[in-house]
Amino acid sequence: MKTIVGIDDMAAYVPKLYVDAEELAEARGIPPSKLTKGLGIEKLSITDAHEDAATMAAMATLKLMEKNDLSPKDIDFIEVATETSPDASKPISCYVQGMLEQVYGKGSFNHIGAPETKFACVGATYALIDRLAYIASNWNKAEYSIVVATDIAKYELNSSGEPTQGAAAIALLLKKNPRLLAYEPEFTGFGTIDDRDFFRPVERKTAVVNGQYSVGCYLRDMRIAADAYRQNMVRVGVLKSLKESLTEKIDLASFHSPFPKMVQYAFASFLIHDWRNLPKWKKIIEAIGPEPSREGLTDVEFYISKEYKEFRRRFIKTEEFRREYEAKIKDSLEALKQIGNSYTASVWLGVNSHFEVRNDDLAGKRFGIGSYGSGSSAVVCSFIIQPEYKEVVKKFDLMRMLNDRKRIPIEVYEDLHEGRLKLHESVIPPKDEFALVSFGETSVDYGYRYYKYIK
Ligand code: HMG
Repeated sequence: MKTIVGIDDMAAYVPKLYVDAEELAEARGIPPSKLTKGLGIEKLSITDAHEDAATMAAMATLKLMEKNDLSPKDIDFIEVATETSPDASKPISCYVQGMLEQVYGKGSFNHIGAPETKFACVGATYALIDRLAYIASNWNKAEYSIVVATDIAKYELNSSGEPTQGAAAIALLLKKNPRLLAYEPEFTGFGTIDDRDFFRPVERKTAVVNGQYSVGCYLRDMRIAADAYRQNMVRVGVLKSLKESLTEKIDLASFHSPFPKMVQYAFASFLIHDWRNLPKWKKIIEAIGPEPSREGLTDVEFYISKEYKEFRRRFIKTEEFRREYEAKIKDSLEALKQIGNSYTASVWLGVNSHFEVRNDDLAGKRFGIGSYGSGSSAVVCSFIIQPEYKEVVKKFDLMRMLNDRKRIPIEVYEDLHEGRLKLHESVIPPKDEFALVSFGETSVDYGYRYYKYIK
């Protein structure tokens, strides 16, 4: 009998502070519509002085454990994916373990495996696949494993990347026979190319990015991974041939969202590629003109060329695109447009957003995931929404958290960005949460992070 593994529940954490995108645009002398309409960003999540990627991960994990009434012995692994780990050697997962032990008791998690995984924004998807494979192979010693995605997206002040910052974490509970999403391992497709679109050398706090180029890399890798997914569907017999539409097989999807418009570009490129051989494409082309030629261009050059962008813009205005986008993608962005980029967490927060926004019956539907990480790699995979999902989803509270946040003025945001506020000078002093309280100063603990659960 086939072993079913997947995601049983999830718990999101977003910081309590945000910057309004229009206010940021005005402060930078950019037309606000460039951020709200051009990039699709409304708000950017900002971490307070006492927060980092580890406190966010610990908050999400604690919430996940509490709402499922789990004790440490129920858990086999806590694997944390991040690209903003506070340490180059000690894994962030051990800092998270230490924080959780302040609540569950010293040594209560001694039995767990706790690696940190890195592959830019796609890291959590890789961690998830590894852990699910481990559970499916019956190697696990406890019923549950947890994968946490946590990140703070940070670029230089006044840079073109600045409006695409954000921060959040999400913890995913994995097990056999999950109540929420059952993984379809046989279809998963990968697309990986050693590239230089975005990276952060260890000595830097902000990323080095070639913005337009990175958009092209995202689209290129996603196409490679989607083609691999398509081939796997043909191999298994779900699609009859490579020319059949993949779109018809996916009911809803979440893509990595560095900014919401990127998801629109990605979905449009996916549909263009998927529909090219279908009879309906002729009608679309008649209305918007032919697809530009790729001759002499690399994939990335083609995807960021003026001609392709204009073609895609026309395609996005078609009724055919709108229908698919509204039915399958739009709801994933309800939360993401209020968070900004959260790197590893983004694609999974998009899943959470779908579940909170949609009211129709989703049981049995196929949920597609388009996960991208710079450097670069894309993973396209899917899950089937389980009959009991509504019971799980009714406890999701990402939208409530987003609505309860405090808007901060640009000067305060800049102070936080530049590290001018000390750990005890938080805009909202920590309460009922984990906080970074001090850094080691002696020869044996220099730079070590000390965390405390503040009641
Ligand atoms: P930019 O170059 O300043 O923006 O920064 P632009 O000129 O491309 O304009 C963006 C859109 O706004 C365009 O829309 C403009 O027309 C429109 P489009 O034509 O493409 O549909 N626009 C306006 N709309 C309304 N009113 C106006 C107006 N003006 C212009 N007045 C960029 C954009 C994303 C490059 C920049 O923010 C950046 O460098 N961000 C960081 C990198 C990034 O997010 N890359 C995304 C892909 S890579 C990725 O996702 C991985 C990542 O998450 C990291 C990881 O994996 O770890 C980043």
